[in-house]
Amino acid sequence: MGVNAAQGPTVAAAAADDGAPAPRLTVVGTGYLGATHAICMAVLGFDVLGVDVDAGKVDRLNEGQVPFFEPGLPELLTKALDSGRLRFTTSFAEAADFGDVHFVCVGTPQRPDSDAADLRYVDSAVEELAAHLRRRALVVGKSTVPVGTAARLTELVRRVAPAGDEVELAWNPEFLREGFAVDDTLRPDRLVFGVSSEWAEKQLRAAFAPVIAEGTPVVVTDLTTAELVKVAANSFLATKISYINAMAEVCETVGGDVTQLAEALAYDDRIGGRFLSPGLGFGGGCLPKDIRAFAHRAEELGVGQAVGFLREVDAINKRRRTRTVDLVRELAGGSLHGVRVTALGAAFKPNSDDIRDAPALDVARSLHRMGAVVTVVDPAATDNARRCHPELTYATDALAAAAGADVVVLLTEWNEFRHIDPDAMGAAVAHRRIVDGRHALDAAQWRAAGWEYRALGRP
Ligand code: UDX
Repeated sequence: MGVNAAQGPTVAAAAADDGAPAPRLTVVGTGYLGATHAICMAVLGFDVLGVDVDAGKVDRLNEGQVPFFEPGLPELLTKALDSGRLRFTTSFAEAADFGDVHFVCVGTPQRPDSDAADLRYVDSAVEELAAHLRRRALVVGKSTVPVGTAARLTELVRRVAPAGDEVELAWNPEFLREGFAVDDTLRPDRLVFGVSSEWAEKQLRAAFAPVIAEGTPVVVTDLTTAELVKVAANSFLATKISYINAMAEVCETVGGDVTQLAEALAYDDRIGGRFLSPGLGFGGGCLPKDIRAFAHRAEELGVGQAVGFLREVDAINKRRRTRTVDLVRELAGGSLHGVRVTALGAAFKPNSDDIRDAPALDVARSLHRMGAVVTVVDPAATDNARRCHPELTYATDALAAAAGADVVVLLTEWNEFRHIDPDAMGAAVAHRRIVDGRHALDAAQWRAAGWEYRALGRP
């Protein structure tokens, strides 16, 4: 049997290998990561209890509503609830009583006062759960944390849990991408199990039995290495994006074309074309804060020099936002005052309503601050954007938003923006000028339709 959700539960078949019953799972934190994990594990056939301190979120999930945009997830939530294998609660006591393996999936945002990760949600989730653990159980961290956190939490759990040493801690970093969260959870590239005992490894293997049965590679490590894998992976991805954007900066000065450069690099298998798309750069709830937290932690531990380049990766990435604003200003004739700008996109990437550290919104806000009259349009993220930035104007339709525009700027490469007809949009705008912040449009087609087309790193 496979892990294809359509094929139904596979737990019984996978767990039958050693005859042990499938562990009962809890998932603490029902944000992006936790809700997806809880739903997918129930679809795979496990009995799952999701836990969150937000009663409103718990109610919505129990009623079958996913509180964020993620393709495919609402259908799986309905399926999991209908199966009777998934529930959500606010009670840590209930969770402790229910579960054999407890996944901790709460957020670790950047602290407001520094580059460090804010661990208060992880600490309180683990502490509240541990206070009720009265029998042997495995607590598994999935959140992205600074190296050393798992060792500290091991002490905390042992001190707080009534079951004491019977409770173990493991780390199982999560690599899911927004927009592909279901697929990444059901069919991950790899599983990483950071453990301190054979028992913990056995529990994790049972908790992922259907995924492992599909041939997913498992890398078993100590706790420290498992914590590092996640930040190392995100740092590498961020570095790759900033590398090609650094090449874009060089192209801008010397008159090269970074899209052709990237294509030529990508044919080298050792380099590869993924995460080599130049443009406005990375944002979101992971890459920016993870590279900052990693650099900060490394400095704390005296090994800052080893990852000092991450500061440069961050700086290159931020410069892309400034440079995009500059391009819009250049196209507008040197001043943004009173210039009507249509911003296509607000989400940090397509197929997401997430606006955390979104390059698109950052550019829209800068343009607004510099005097432009900005109308933002996004297929999914407008509500979130409006809530945080009511000073901007929002529209629901790209052509309507472009009415009377002096400059159009594409900031998030949603498919529907890629397929805009330059003639139709040309009829709506006051001036046919476009900045393609994501290299998502066919420059020749737009120029043929009479548009002045500009993109970062291209002549
Ligand atoms: C990322 C990691 O990919 C994932 O493994 C980890 O678990 C969480 O962080 P996510 O934040 O969902 O996932 O987004 P991702 O698809 O990685 O994109 C991140 C940002 O990089 C986006 O803003 C995207 O627009 C940008 N990006 C991506 C580029 O600018 N160029 C690229 O070539 C690829």
